[in-house]
Amino acid sequence: MGYASVLQCKECGREYPLEPTNVCEFCFGPLEVQYDYKNIAKVMTKESIQNGPNSMWRYKELLPVAGDDIVNINSGFTPLIKANRLGEELGLTNLYLKNDCVNPTHSFKDRVVTVAATKAKEFGFDTIACASTGNLAGSVAAHAARAGMRCFVFIPADLETGKIIGAAVYGPTLVAVKGSYDEVNRLCSEVADRHGWAFVNINIRPYYSEGSKSLGYEVVEQLGWKTPVHAVVPAASGSLYTKIWKGFKEFNQLGFIDTPTTQMHLATYTGSPIVTAYDEGTKDVRPVKPKTIAKSLAIGNPADGYYALNTIEETQGSATAVSDEEVVDGMLLLAQTEGIFGETAGGVTIASLKRLVKQGKINQDDLTVAYITGSGLKTQEAVEKVVQPLHVEPTLNSFEDALKATR
Ligand SMILES: Cc1ncc(COP(=O)(O)O)c(C=O)c1O
Ligand SMILES: [Zn+2]
Repeated sequence: MGYASVLQCKECGREYPLEPTNVCEFCFGPLEVQYDYKNIAKVMTKESIQNGPNSMWRYKELLPVAGDDIVNINSGFTPLIKANRLGEELGLTNLYLKNDCVNPTHSFKDRVVTVAATKAKEFGFDTIACASTGNLAGSVAAHAARAGMRCFVFIPADLETGKIIGAAVYGPTLVAVKGSYDEVNRLCSEVADRHGWAFVNINIRPYYSEGSKSLGYEVVEQLGWKTPVHAVVPAASGSLYTKIWKGFKEFNQLGFIDTPTTQMHLATYTGSPIVTAYDEGTKDVRPVKPKTIAKSLAIGNPADGYYALNTIEETQGSATAVSDEEVVDGMLLLAQTEGIFGETAGGVTIASLKRLVKQGKINQDDLTVAYITGSGLKTQEAVEKVVQPLHVEPTLNSFEDALKATR
């Protein structure tokens, strides 16, 4: 038995049993998993966590699964790295990078999908599906392969090759839709209604999104049971951003850490309606058609945009939007100072971090964690024109000539 108790509407507070559903029947608000924290506190301690598996399943009591039959490709337990060289470039002495590129399918989505796939199996579904901006596609397909489930993955047709191949290789039915992510998502809601599949980010969404809390738990544990002063988190729907904060608060509720005071900084693409609302001082998130090189973040109608704005308010955080040029510069800066090839979303994080320092929102010695949530090997198009080899003949002279030309 697990410790999840009910689904609760985030708007009107009505409670629902733990079923594959995601909206309140009365007010259409989104549903969120609630837990029996009293009983969790009786069994979960810092020691029990430290003695747990080297994966995000060391936090199992705080994840909404009932049994032990986990669909597991070993998500999480990724490195937190002190970034001295990048810090020096940016003027920060206490900067850490959470490197989630090294998950099994090379993005943080493995954290949400291991929960969603486990839950789908618990509910008795034989087919798992998703609408994806790219990374989710690969993760859902991989978990389906591992679980032996039928799999349908819907993506916008214009995704990067690495994202398409990185999903197709696991053998799902990959559906490339001529349209934006928001159109793909709308189509998937209709498909979900008709076919009754487990759509990880639609009818399984309340469970799926809980997996992102592990990016909060892990950072706290890796920092020696404390929260950072600042966290910089890339956002598409805004779910990951809000769930990291929820993770910090739950660890406080269980007595593992003091009241968290982290300022949560949301990072995304220019034109994002979350940033527009933040800049205008409203919580009115008006959908847009995104245009950005950061395709993984290109959601124009962000499901958790309103809640992300609440988290900004609650934590005295901020929202930053960066241009395509800044994204590429951020990717190169990260790769060339720390040896981490993050995807475009990583470029968004680093470019936003740079801005926050310039604006004086992050000070030199503040303990800061920047989340790098996916690998650049899947978004090579973003940098292929700006990083080129030296082309030489197989002779010493040719090499020496080429070398001279670089000086
Ligand atoms: C690499 C990467 N980082 C961050 C995000 C943001 O996710 P969310 O929709 O939870 O805001 C995504 C979403 O697809 C992603 O692919
Ligand atoms: Zn409701």
